[in-house]
Amino acid sequence: MKQPHSPVLLNESIKLLVNNKAGKYFEATMGFGGHTEGILEKLNSDGIVVSTDVDINAFSFCKEKFKNDKRVKIYKFNFSLVDVIAKIDSIEFFDGILADLGVSSFQLDDSAAGFSYSSNTDLDLRLDKNLRKTAADILNEESESALANIIYEFGEEKNSRRIAKAICKMREIKKITKTEDLKEIISSVTNARYLVKTLSRVFQALRIYVNEELNILRTFLENSMDVLGKGGRLVIISYHSLEDRIVKEFFKHESLSCICPKESPVCTCGKERRLKILTSKPITPTANELQMNKRARSAKLRAAERI
Ligand SMILES: C[S@@+](CC[C@H](N)C(=O)[O-])C[C@H]1O[C@@H](n2cnc3c(N)ncnc32)[C@H](O)[C@@H]1O
Repeated sequence: MKQPHSPVLLNESIKLLVNNKAGKYFEATMGFGGHTEGILEKLNSDGIVVSTDVDINAFSFCKEKFKNDKRVKIYKFNFSLVDVIAKIDSIEFFDGILADLGVSSFQLDDSAAGFSYSSNTDLDLRLDKNLRKTAADILNEESESALANIIYEFGEEKNSRRIAKAICKMREIKKITKTEDLKEIISSVTNARYLVKTLSRVFQALRIYVNEELNILRTFLENSMDVLGKGGRLVIISYHSLEDRIVKEFFKHESLSCICPKESPVCTCGKERRLKILTSKPITPTANELQMNKRARSAKLRAAERI
């Protein structure tokens, strides 16, 4: 298999991440190894990269790709377990932690995975096939109001109530199992002009919900703090506003040394400042990168340093 995914913001992320040639680095979202490879190129023979992905194809591809490089350790674990993975490898602290969130081009293009509405496949949307519930299960089992909330909260789709109602009407007639079923439902209540955007939002909402992506991101950021050494860098690339907001707020919170109310005469909160923000504004892809890789268009990179 040739490289099935072009790494996004590769130079920018590696430059911010790697400041120790003999350091230990964690790549939370290994995918097809683009960023892992970028880190390895900066390291000497003492450096280590620990990379993980929940996707079996990504895991198998990278197992083979890096089989001759002793500096790489590969896992098929959820990245929220960053602290557990560090323990397994007897690593007290990483010099840098990188996460390139979302899904890879391979997952989007793999018609069997059901991540894209452009082919008619099973409505799965699980990154980790060990998860219990698929998108189809959610659509057939959740109540109308729960579905509306999922679509509104995780897809930021204003027409969520109408879509949820249409889903429930359709499932009275037949089980919803295919991407085409969902497309048909959404088309029935959406103006053709907004169809593509609405489909993207609903698919995004279901993917986030099925994989619990936002809670997992919060847990990962929190757990990273325990295994990121002083001076170590945390670099996160996100692809939609919900993820970016979580990263931005986490960085902001961790960069404050006091969260007492303004009117409080003395500090009583005991808050510890753990991060220095390195990117006051998120870094986005250059016009050149966007020309080569359209899928990079929504990427935002934020970086911070452990203090
Ligand atoms: C944008 S791709 C990463 C691409 C990679 N940086 C490269 O250059 O090839 C995101 C990857 O993260 C994985 N992923 C998403 N959520 C995950 C999680 N909670 N734990 C581990 N891997 C996850 C996906 O399966 C996907 O392969």
